[in-house]
Amino acid sequence: MDLAGLETRRGALSMEVQEAGGGGELGSAGEAEVEAEYHSRDFEWEDLEAEVEADPAFSYHLSPFSGQAAGTASSPQHSSEAWRCFHRRHASGKFFKERRYLLKEFPELPNSEDCAKILEVGCGNGSTAVSILRSNESIRVFACDCSKDTLEKANEIISNTKGIDIKDRFQPFLMDVSKENFPDWLFCKACQSSLGKATEFILDPSHHKLRKEHPVFLGENQCCVGGMDFVTMIFTLSAIPFTLMPTTIEQCVSVLKPGGLLLFRDYGLYDMTMLRFLPHQRVGFREYMRSDGTLSYFFTLDTVRELFHAAGLIELELEYCCVKSVNRKSGKKMQRVWVHGKFKKEKHQADAR
Ligand SMILES: C[S@@+](CC[C@H](N)C(=O)[O-])C[C@H]1O[C@@H](n2cnc3c(N)ncnc32)[C@H](O)[C@@H]1O
Repeated sequence: MDLAGLETRRGALSMEVQEAGGGGELGSAGEAEVEAEYHSRDFEWEDLEAEVEADPAFSYHLSPFSGQAAGTASSPQHSSEAWRCFHRRHASGKFFKERRYLLKEFPELPNSEDCAKILEVGCGNGSTAVSILRSNESIRVFACDCSKDTLEKANEIISNTKGIDIKDRFQPFLMDVSKENFPDWLFCKACQSSLGKATEFILDPSHHKLRKEHPVFLGENQCCVGGMDFVTMIFTLSAIPFTLMPTTIEQCVSVLKPGGLLLFRDYGLYDMTMLRFLPHQRVGFREYMRSDGTLSYFFTLDTVRELFHAAGLIELELEYCCVKSVNRKSGKKMQRVWVHGKFKKEKHQADAR
């Protein structure tokens, strides 16, 4: 296969995994699609909205949801288990593709201060984590996922990636973010309350235990990692039942340092992959379940705004990213919609954790 052919195939594979594990269902796995370009606005989202809402073929996507409530159809157990099965089936990790465009979308990551700490929520095989680790050699990435298999794969991929020395810089950990609390060693209550209050927390005996359990990540005088400068949620929130999104976001905000940023990218309303879902795949309003049980939600800017504001974050950037591409074989046009968001935790915010 020549280089162009290889690129096309890689594009197709990348979309295949994005679709199977992060988008709608692809009609054909072999369809060649281009990867999302940074901050594109190939078309106006409002034009797509008008087009979709005027088309009777799409009317079932717009109607109020009257089927089984998403809370039962897509319980956390069911949803996380579906993701675990998904990763077991795709254990080869051959669909792995770096999300380099994120560094342009979020220039704070490569330009962050020395030793910035990042939490990648729902890291999968590490597509986002690799790009971040590569972008700045002092960055430390903590990465969680509900699947042990994918965490192992991410660790293997990142360890074998040229140019990344992961010693002390990559820490994967298992966690279902929709129903569990982050471990205290990321950012414990005592640290939050003692931020700026010198060293009183160091005397807390529970921190000594933490230091023993996680020696590599704890500095000489630290009790815990001390909170995150950034939290990234890249195509993860859409994979979690809608009813559990508020508590999931609250969890993520709880480990963010005051002044820290939450970086968000996910599926936007009327993305091509949403319009491909069939009526019986609806499990909620704008929420769908693939045949493998994994979920996909499609966000409006207002929904994202409400969810993150409710968690006390300040909106810095929020917009649709609209990419038009053409299938080289069929000539069919494809309109992709993503939501790009950047939110900040207030400096003085008292955390309820
Ligand atoms: C579409 S993938 C995105 C992966 C990664 N963020 C990236 O940029 O490629 C969604 C990931 O979220 C994980 N996930 C889904 N529900 C989760 C949950 N409740 N807790 C933790 N991870 C979850 C899945 O296992 C999957 O790896």
